[in-house]
Amino acid sequence: MVAVTILAAGRGTRMKSTLPKVLHSLGGRSLVERVLHSCSPISPSRRLVVVGYQAEQVKAALLEAEIMSQKQGEEFPLLPPLEFVEQTEQRGTGHAIQQLLPYLDGFTGDLLVLNGDVPLLRPQTLKHLLKIHQEHQNAVTLLTAQVPNAQGYGRVFCNSDNIINQIVEDRDCTAAQKQNRRINAGIYCFRWADLAQVLPQLQANNNQQEYYLTDAVNLLEPVMAVDVEDHQEILGVNDRQQLATVYEILQHRVKEECMVLGVTLVDPASITIDDTVQLQPDVIIEPQTHLRGNTVIQSGSRIGPGSLIENSHLGENVTVLYSVVKNSIVKAETQIGPYAHLRGPVQVGTGCRVGNFVELKNTTLGDKTNVGHLSYLGDATLGDHVNIGAGTITANYDGVNKHPTQIGDRTKTGSNSVLVAPLVLGADVNVAAGSVVTEDVPNDCLVIARARQVVKPGWRLKSLKRTAQDAETGLKGSHE
Ligand code: UD1
Ligand code: CA
Repeated sequence: MVAVTILAAGRGTRMKSTLPKVLHSLGGRSLVERVLHSCSPISPSRRLVVVGYQAEQVKAALLEAEIMSQKQGEEFPLLPPLEFVEQTEQRGTGHAIQQLLPYLDGFTGDLLVLNGDVPLLRPQTLKHLLKIHQEHQNAVTLLTAQVPNAQGYGRVFCNSDNIINQIVEDRDCTAAQKQNRRINAGIYCFRWADLAQVLPQLQANNNQQEYYLTDAVNLLEPVMAVDVEDHQEILGVNDRQQLATVYEILQHRVKEECMVLGVTLVDPASITIDDTVQLQPDVIIEPQTHLRGNTVIQSGSRIGPGSLIENSHLGENVTVLYSVVKNSIVKAETQIGPYAHLRGPVQVGTGCRVGNFVELKNTTLGDKTNVGHLSYLGDATLGDHVNIGAGTITANYDGVNKHPTQIGDRTKTGSNSVLVAPLVLGADVNVAAGSVVTEDVPNDCLVIARARQVVKPGWRLKSLKRTAQDAETGLKGSHE
């Protein structure tokens, strides 16, 4: 049995932010959410999060993220509920773990400890750590890494069998000890019963006057170190530069996976892709394109250049050019853009065209329907084979409420029509250009709703005559 605890009580002073460090976003998910996700595949029997600085905000964010991932069905089915453990004063990592004593009273399994600021961990790494821990029946097994720059990390001193003699914090190291590049990743697996015995013995007599969890490690045996294969996995985020560095690493990972799956990325450095995005083979992503959130793009689609797709599902062979698509479903063979804005919920059928400077909001288009140019459709439902003329606008808002517009199959609106909602246009309706339609129109009708054109002949001639008379009576110039 394995309980997991995540240390997330610290403020993260070096971020210089009002937001707690662990809530900073990395590719659409907070740091702590990522840590939590990395340990889901080991099916922990308990999940305890130590909170302190802005505890309520951290709790709320994690609970919301849980609900979201349950909705998207991506969470492992049998995860236990999150338990929040308050550490009101932050007096060190050892002090944080001491707060667990009442919660884990009588618990006989292992405790996996993770820092809330280490977002790149791979689940396999944690599985490997647990395996070694259990095979060797260690009191503690600790994840270590050989890093090029060990500054700021605790140094781990081992014998040749990876049995740890000592961990010394960077601040407490002698110059000779600082030469050691094997570092403590801050990820541990403890036999809880043993840890619980030594926790009360921790002392705060060190450079920081803190209770160090590493001192508990020094009090236990046998203690073994396991080196992580890819040392980038254990990078911690303490400031904005490190946040940018881990983002870059994450992007590199995501793009590599996409390309292995058969996706073309044109100029990958100019593209960003969240790791929650799913792309099928033969998708082409053009430069300056950003794919975010719960997005799926099917085979043959070409996205970009210059597009943003968020929480959307695009079918096969869709093209999106210089456009923004959020919370939308776009079916196969549809062309979006250039310069379209879909803000969902929006649903666009098969083989549609949504063109230049068109905004769709809370709108459904049937199949083979076109909205080619300069339109706003809000709260509208359109049938199949509809053609929306250039400049057609749904006037859906009366200043207080939003109202719906319905447009039947094969209906065509002329250029610059205003459809004043609530409004129902039947099937096979033709709306004359420039109409302001305020009343429902049945099937098979032509509707003309504009002032009749008035043409006054000889108009210019009359006014010229007047000017000539003015000149004669000496008034010329007085009205210029
Ligand atoms: C810690 C380790 C160090 C290791 C490094 C890896 C100790 C004493 N040192 O140092 O050996 O190399 O992590 O990243 O453990 N936290 C609390 N309550 C507290 C203090 C911290 O919950 O009272 C949380 C923080 O929010 C953070 C984590 O514990 O998520 C680590 O704390 P941090 O202060 O960053 O430890 P380091 O100095 O990095
Ligand atoms: Ca840290």
